[in-house]
Amino acid sequence: MIPDEIIEQVSQQADIVAIIGEHVKLKKTGSVWRGPCPFHQGTNANFSVMPRGGYTCFVCGEKGTVFTFVQKRLGMSFPEAVRYVGEKCGVAVPEYQPKREGPDPREPMWELHATVAEFFQKQLWDAPAGAEARAYLQERAVSRATADHFGLGYAPRDVQAMRAHLNGLGVPDERLLAAGLLVKRDDSAELRPRFRDRLMFPIVDQGGHTVGFGGRLLGPGEPKYLNSAESEIFSKGKLLYNLANARHAIRKEERVLIVEGYFDALRLVDAGVEHVVAPMGTALTEAQAELLTRYAKQVVLLYDSDGPGQKATFRAADVLLAKGVEVRVVTLPDGEDPDTFTRTHGRAGLMPLVENAMDVFDRKVQLLQRAGWFNDLQHKRRALDRLLPTIRAASDPITRDLYLARAAEAAGIAREVLLSELHAVRRGNRTSGAAARGAADAGRGGSRSSGARSGGAEQDLRDADAPPPGDDSAPFMPSGPYRSRVEQGNAEQTLLRVLLTQPIHQDLVVEELGKLEAEDSPGEGLGDAEGFEESPGVLRDPVYAAIYAAVLRHGADADPETFASELDPLEIHVYETLRGEADAVVDAPRSIADALRQLRDRSLAARIAELDSLLPLADAEQKNAILARKNQLAKERRALGSSSWRAVRTTGNR
Ligand code: CTP
Ligand code: MN
Repeated sequence: MIPDEIIEQVSQQADIVAIIGEHVKLKKTGSVWRGPCPFHQGTNANFSVMPRGGYTCFVCGEKGTVFTFVQKRLGMSFPEAVRYVGEKCGVAVPEYQPKREGPDPREPMWELHATVAEFFQKQLWDAPAGAEARAYLQERAVSRATADHFGLGYAPRDVQAMRAHLNGLGVPDERLLAAGLLVKRDDSAELRPRFRDRLMFPIVDQGGHTVGFGGRLLGPGEPKYLNSAESEIFSKGKLLYNLANARHAIRKEERVLIVEGYFDALRLVDAGVEHVVAPMGTALTEAQAELLTRYAKQVVLLYDSDGPGQKATFRAADVLLAKGVEVRVVTLPDGEDPDTFTRTHGRAGLMPLVENAMDVFDRKVQLLQRAGWFNDLQHKRRALDRLLPTIRAASDPITRDLYLARAAEAAGIAREVLLSELHAVRRGNRTSGAAARGAADAGRGGSRSSGARSGGAEQDLRDADAPPPGDDSAPFMPSGPYRSRVEQGNAEQTLLRVLLTQPIHQDLVVEELGKLEAEDSPGEGLGDAEGFEESPGVLRDPVYAAIYAAVLRHGADADPETFASELDPLEIHVYETLRGEADAVVDAPRSIADALRQLRDRSLAARIAELDSLLPLADAEQKNAILARKNQLAKERRALGSSSWRAVRTTGNR
């Protein structure tokens, strides 16, 4: 903290007229100075500055001190403003000294990363090896100035170059290994750099320290981007790319733009839009949202316009709304991302989209409306199930009220009904499956699940060039439901085990599950509204569902390579485990029958729960029909002998 006496002294010494005069054309009138108000962009001289006091605008009411002026116009925090004014009037403002003994223990790591960033930068611009990367930047229309602003560099293909350079500076291999910049493969003593032949984006934390890198391949290949491994100084989920550079602009604009990728951020800054940050290949985390609230209360999301982009938008929005932030979304034309759009249309094309960005909740309602989801009772219910979590997420009570009113209006139901739905916790209906899926995604590193673009950690494994799994491998260890191998009474697991060990039963199982799926979603007239989580399929567990989908595509007897090429590491692990458990299948036909009965029972229960959930939204006539249908399903369920399967032994002795 800056001592009060110093603040007082700066405030006494400051020439407020001179400082404001740098931004507003002031004229002396009597004892005060007047000019056009910079806050409401006035043209008349309504803005007045008092040499021994503050400033006021008679029209818009803005007023404050020399410090608030600097904070608002230059986007600085209070301590930054005091220091800025202090410098102008010659009062020394001591640096904030955190109460710590000795230097920060992370200092050497930061320094090492900064040195390596410098090496990469030299390689890019001064080394013959950097020619291809220079051409790549030129092709993507990135100027030297912008590249330097971001400190871009190039990690050479040569495995010795970085190591030799750093050894020459007195940095031993051990430190490079500890920093994850060099890696040792299990099968050899050879040291190799983590990053090779990649365009390098240094990643800087809020304190301005270089803490890691994102590296992009210059050509096609996987993974397209490789990030530094998680470490004491580098935690993807707590950092935002470009925040250190953008923070003044964010405060000044009172708004922050979030894009998905490095190049998007770079392009916007290149076009003169500085208040932009990007997460690094993973879904926006709570920590990142929290970080942003320190700088702005409004966020504009500019994600890709495709399905996964939209899903990522809505997920990020819920996280941000929970922090009380106002969330708007820009929808770019099909096939465009902020990089390509801004490259063609420039700042002038982009800014109107940002200015007119739609509130995220309105956008959701709009998409559901367009897909026809408010037209019939079933879909209305599902539409509300997709809106209610966002209403619940909104921590700001005014926003929540507004959202509630909008949803009620769109669905054509009373606000009070919706309010009680908001507080009701429903179990067993379709949305619980979607929620489970979301949770499972989060458990796998929080990256989004669309194969080609899922986040760094999972991709690293697929890269022949990448270092062996070390600290990044944590997400591959099965946990929770996948830990126990043979789970008694787990119908989904049982079916898959039978399929994978005795593929001869495939036709029967596929046919039966197909029937069940059809019963599950009778007369589903409308497709999924784009950007929303899909309803879970007949298998609810996302891992088992993914394996089953691969079985449907290639057959249960397809070779393991085929499975491995389509599944993610956790799924591969589970697939291999099940395939190796032939012993656990004692009586296949019986196991199948039991499992199918169990799934049918579950499906009936879910459909009954769904009918229950329709009741509050239904009119009298609809209610009668729903109750009749419910009775019918309950009868079917009883006929199934819904509890008898529990007694049956489904697995062998373990
Ligand atoms: N990303 C990642 N690993 C991948 C792919 C993407 O970490 N295998 C991260 C990167 O931070 C990337 C962001 O996700 O910038 C967005 O991915 P994508 O849209 O695929 O990349 P672009 O930014 O469009 O990259 P480019 O324009 O260079 O193709
Ligand atoms: Mn792109």
